[in-house]
Amino acid sequence: IDILLAFGGLSREHNVSIISASNIIPHIDPEKYNLNLLYITKEGKWLLCDKYQFKTECDFPDEIIPTIKGIPVYLPIGQGKVSHLYSQESGKIAKIDLVLTLLHGRNGAGGVMNAIWNSVGIPNVGPSMAGGVIGFDKDIMKRLLSEAGLPICRYELIHQKNYSPSSLKDLKSKFSYPFFIKPANSGSSLGVHKIYNDQEFYEKVNDVFLFDNKLIIEEYIDGSELEIYCYEAENIIKTSIIRQTIVGAEYDFYTFEAKYGTDNATTNIKKIPADIPEEDHEKVRQMVIKAYKVLEGRGETRMDLFYSGQGDIYINEINTVPALMSRKSQPSLWDGCGISHGMIIDELIASALK
Ligand code: DAL
Ligand code: MG
Repeated sequence: IDILLAFGGLSREHNVSIISASNIIPHIDPEKYNLNLLYITKEGKWLLCDKYQFKTECDFPDEIIPTIKGIPVYLPIGQGKVSHLYSQESGKIAKIDLVLTLLHGRNGAGGVMNAIWNSVGIPNVGPSMAGGVIGFDKDIMKRLLSEAGLPICRYELIHQKNYSPSSLKDLKSKFSYPFFIKPANSGSSLGVHKIYNDQEFYEKVNDVFLFDNKLIIEEYIDGSELEIYCYEAENIIKTSIIRQTIVGAEYDFYTFEAKYGTDNATTNIKKIPADIPEEDHEKVRQMVIKAYKVLEGRGETRMDLFYSGQGDIYINEINTVPALMSRKSQPSLWDGCGISHGMIIDELIASALK
């Protein structure tokens, strides 16, 4: 089976995707799959790159300087079904039976690329177009979760076109400090700010609008973060062990640096499994399985939840293409469930090819 692993991409999470790709490659069995790598540059150029030369030792996205080389390739659109990547010089260049979308940000996690593969008849592992769009847009996601009776944090939304100092003032009055402001569409905490006073609020709003034209104001839940992976195969939704993170004192919240900084550099406390009552483990699992269905989950996702000091649980979000950090910095939450990355890949590929 010829697999194309697509990574990099236009998003601000480009380097996170490079790390994710380097961490997943060792789990793709060369005896079963012939792997090709499609690197999408920050400018959106497609390069077929050499899997033997591609590696990154680095585990912190901001320290990567992408210098990945490859042959320019393209996918012909409007020619009916396609089963290869093409190059200008030599025509058909790499056969594709299936694409693994490991692109974060709107194009990958947000479902855009999956729609492109679908349009030329190429099966793909990753979110469906609908699942990507609804999972990536925190406003749509929250509305669907709430309609399904799942607990979410209280929030308000404002569109950039309707925004004025007085509309912001009205919104702000519904929350007490601190609260969060975030772009509805973004990932890895990029553009997210914890706000402590009026001055910060008016300053940071503009930063949020650099990421998206929809801004969310959300209440702050004092407590810890829970993360859990899940995927569906053979009509069964499997859930991993739950990880609990108490963010280190040097971070204001679970920021980009707090998420991806290497272990030595962070003071986050990680508990695997989460140190919460046994019945809450089961409660989280059931919530996440329901959320996966409601949000049209496909492929492996990671759900992030808040666990308050009082033991209340809120779903924060679904990550339809979760970051895969190295096992040394983030031991797999599937360990102990008898499930390996290799098995997940096999199961997801098998169901995508059906
Ligand atoms: N959005 C990223 C990749 C994550 O949260 O895992
Ligand atoms: Mg996220």
